[in-house]
Amino acid sequence: MTQPALLQEVTPGFAVDIRAGLTKAPQKELPSKYLYDEVGSALFEVITALPEYGVTRSEERLLARHATDIVAQLSPDVTVAELGSGSGRKTRRILEALCKKHPTSYCPIEISRTALQLCRRELGDIERISIVGYEKDYLAGLAEVSEKRPDGEQLLVLFLGSTIGNFGRLAATRFLRDIRMMLKPGDALLLGTDLDKPVPTLVAAYDDPIGVTAAFNLNLLARINRELGGDFPLDAFEHVARFNPEVRSIEMHLRAKRRVTAHVAAARLTVTLEEGETIWTESSHKYRAEEVGPIAGDAGFACAHQWIERDWGFAESLLVAR
Ligand code: TRP
Repeated sequence: MTQPALLQEVTPGFAVDIRAGLTKAPQKELPSKYLYDEVGSALFEVITALPEYGVTRSEERLLARHATDIVAQLSPDVTVAELGSGSGRKTRRILEALCKKHPTSYCPIEISRTALQLCRRELGDIERISIVGYEKDYLAGLAEVSEKRPDGEQLLVLFLGSTIGNFGRLAATRFLRDIRMMLKPGDALLLGTDLDKPVPTLVAAYDDPIGVTAAFNLNLLARINRELGGDFPLDAFEHVARFNPEVRSIEMHLRAKRRVTAHVAAARLTVTLEEGETIWTESSHKYRAEEVGPIAGDAGFACAHQWIERDWGFAESLLVAR
């Protein structure tokens, strides 16, 4: 078996999760959170600039247009926690609007150290902001921020982009409920949702013609090779994005073009894929704007406001903990 040649910083739990996912039957899977190492985070930044991936620009337009209005719904004294800040570019508008009124603490929660660094660089110049990054999973980070915030301050949780879409409808409700448990009544959650749109538009957004999304997805196997001493032959895999009409989601897979056997040293794993067999890496569910309120309701929030961008189809919903 190959030994890890270039043993870089190994993410805790990575080997265990890879082993669990690749031994699942009948559908092998890999958790999408591992897509975002340094290479993956950089590739995702490129995805957000692709003409076919309208999600990020749509949300940026929405936040640019309505930041003042969104902030006007909040109490003057807020601590901001962001789940998965990415580069932080989108968040700028909200933070500027808040800091104009009051000095504000901003706590990005990210498993990607690269993203945390980018975000500090991107937002550090905002006047009267103090940034405290948490290199943690969403819920562990949120619990800590919520506990540490000063008495009487409202917590605003930002969950932007289309990350909620990576959960199915049931799992999304459960996840919002988990968030709700970390909050006090009156705390707020600003939730981004990518809205349902014609299938060809969706497929192009997740399978672009120059192959950036394919590279982003394949990097997950490359990362396993780099960090866990794997020997996946990358040329034997292709990126697949298929639409599942039943649950209105785009499913991302890595498909073996031929029969492949690979080893992952650090996970003590040998895995075989038959020709045509896939590893499922992520699903991106698309919502109707009217669905958000009921889902939020089931999770203990009231939907106070919704802002919709119709050129691409994206909604921002302000949910208040009851
Ligand atoms: N969660 C994002 C989304 O659903 C990220 C994403 C974009 C993604 N393209 C991807 C994840 C391709 C996996 C594969 O829009």
